[in-house]
Amino acid sequence: MRLEDCRADFPLTRDLIYLDSAATSLTPKPVIQAMVGYDLRYRANVGRGVHRLTTIATHRYRDARDSIRSFIGGEGGAIAITRNTTEAIGMVAAGLPWKQGDRVVTTLLEHHSNLLPWLRLRKRGVEVDIVRPDAEGSLEIADLEAAVRDGTRLVAITHASNVLGTVIPVDEIAAICHDHGARLLVDGAQSAPHLPVDVSRMGCDYFCFSGHKMLGPTGTGALWMREPDIEPLLVGGGSIANVTADDYTLAPDEGRYEAGTPPVAGTIGFARAAAYLREIGMETVHRHDERLSARLIEGLSEVEGVRVLGAEVEGERIGVVSFTVDGLHPHEVAQILDEAAAVLVRSGHHCSQPLMEHLGLPEGTVRASTHIYNTEEEIDTMIATVEEIARRVA
Ligand code: ALA
Repeated sequence: MRLEDCRADFPLTRDLIYLDSAATSLTPKPVIQAMVGYDLRYRANVGRGVHRLTTIATHRYRDARDSIRSFIGGEGGAIAITRNTTEAIGMVAAGLPWKQGDRVVTTLLEHHSNLLPWLRLRKRGVEVDIVRPDAEGSLEIADLEAAVRDGTRLVAITHASNVLGTVIPVDEIAAICHDHGARLLVDGAQSAPHLPVDVSRMGCDYFCFSGHKMLGPTGTGALWMREPDIEPLLVGGGSIANVTADDYTLAPDEGRYEAGTPPVAGTIGFARAAAYLREIGMETVHRHDERLSARLIEGLSEVEGVRVLGAEVEGERIGVVSFTVDGLHPHEVAQILDEAAAVLVRSGHHCSQPLMEHLGLPEGTVRASTHIYNTEEEIDTMIATVEEIARRVA
């Protein structure tokens, strides 16, 4: 599959310029067909019973889970299917054996899903340190290193900012964590869909990501664990090895994290999405996003009255660009882009309110985010429309 040929698989791209993939991506036809195939040809519950359909469904479900694990190079660890990244992070926050005085280090770059679970732990006596980026949104690794003292149980950090598009060198952070006996949780919601990810090389202990941002169905995500060492959030059918009237033994593998019927069609679709991206090649996906975001940053930076956020931050980027237009609320800009040119972008605080406050933008920004189906022509349409909007208010 060549990236240039994929647009026909995304019917919505015929009439719309979809630049909101950081919120959720579009889904290609082969993913939808894989899910429909389960419902029409072999729908049954999984891990339960021996009849012919449950046997097929169980094999397909487990194969799907395995291929999602190998998409991130996670063969050496355990993977649990979740509803999304938020649930995966919440499982770690709820499942580690916290004690009074434990420390968590996180940053102000996080979206709410990787901040609120840690803030909630403060009520249980856990100390939470939040490392702040500079006024441009650049995070100094030395600041993070200074915060990771002995006694830090966990560092929780995003791999790529959902607001600025900047990529964090998580492998450097892994080395710092391990020097201090801390574990590392990487929020891969924005990286897994856009960058080659190899958790075995990255050195993290937990990697959380979403299927729905990487061409898969909504309601799917995953938690990868180096060791399945956290307490499950839920227990029940499917998560046990043995049950008596008085007690139970949990399944020895990741099954312990999947109590109840899992999203079978969703996981099969999620795995098909991973295969689709793999066919294109994640290096190709990354270069495409970088090319589009560089064009967008350059074009928007030249428009009078437009401020692009984090444009000066060095290092790798994903296809996420945030900006403001003088004199207009971000929602007004997004509304006009939709009405005038069918350009769909997100506006507001992007579930990252503390970062917006820190950057002095309490009303948030306009955010364009790309994926494989976007083209340079679409980016040029967006820049031209923003130019027109900015001219009207000047
Ligand atoms: N965290 C997602 C976003 O950035 C929902 O839009």
